Amino acid sequence: MIKSNISQGDPMKVMQTNGQTGHVDFVGAGPGDPELLTLKALTAFQRADVVLHDRLISAEVLQLAGRNARLVDVGKAGFEHSWKQEDIDALLVEYALEGQRVVRLKSGDATLFGRLDEEIDALDAAGIPWSIVPGITAASAAVAGIGQSLTQRGRNSSVRFLTGHDMKGFADHDWTALARAGSVAAIYMGKKSARFIQGRLIMHGADRATPVTVIENASRPDQRILATTLDQLPVDLAAAGFDGPALTFYGLAPRDAAGTATEFNKELA
Ligand SMILES: C[S@@+](CC[C@H](N)C(=O)[O-])C[C@H]1O[C@@H](n2cnc3c(N)ncnc32)[C@H](O)[C@@H]1O
Repeated sequence: MIKSNISQGDPMKVMQTNGQTGHVDFVGAGPGDPELLTLKALTAFQRADVVLHDRLISAEVLQLAGRNARLVDVGKAGFEHSWKQEDIDALLVEYALEGQRVVRLKSGDATLFGRLDEEIDALDAAGIPWSIVPGITAASAAVAGIGQSLTQRGRNSSVRFLTGHDMKGFADHDWTALARAGSVAAIYMGKKSARFIQGRLIMHGADRATPVTVIENASRPDQRILATTLDQLPVDLAAAGFDGPALTFYGLAPRDAAGTATEFNKELA
């Protein structure tokens, strides 16, 4: 069902110790709710010999791995043991060269802020075939959680996906464009950079009253929502004390009628 891509590397380099072809599926695990895994993700996950997963993958999702799959936590954040990207690349190659069916499980969608290209480059260099299984990104789950839509006729005909920080520190963006009325952005990894982002936007003319909503643990049972303004963002965020993954929407407030939206399963019950 999941087709291998055409690898750029030399196929002769794929010398398997068990005579089978190694393969890596990059699988988007979604935002945490196991019911938001795609069927394709589940298939890949359940037939994997080895699953290399990020720190943000929920326990409920990990429980769905095949019974014999080896789970390897290669999470990079936090202050505990931290995996270097090159070590993850090397491990992927090593397992695939052993002929293992490897799933590289990334939170949300693997193509967004997931350092996917570095891992693909390592596989290509070793001639290992791979494929990508899309997942539901945090912004999609978070916007559903506030009963909003990412775009709206007459308000915004585009939406930006931003990261709060990159390898050089706080990430720079087109602040002038973002500061225009009606702009909407989904900001990933935006907690630590909240004050920086606020300052840049106000400096470039953004209205201090622009709505900002922060959704922690989107799609999970412990989801929390902070509705604030650009002006109050750093203060309110600090007071909220969010310590889980959080997605910040710049330019979106929870819909007033969000309380009337029922959860999918509750509606069916
Ligand atoms: C390294 S990025 C990976 C994003 C992921 N590839 C995706 O498509 O959602 C991690 C960031 O995604 C956001 N994130 C991931 N899961 C989330 C969740 N369940 N609720 C809110 N934000 C989440 C947070 O901003 C977190 O710091």
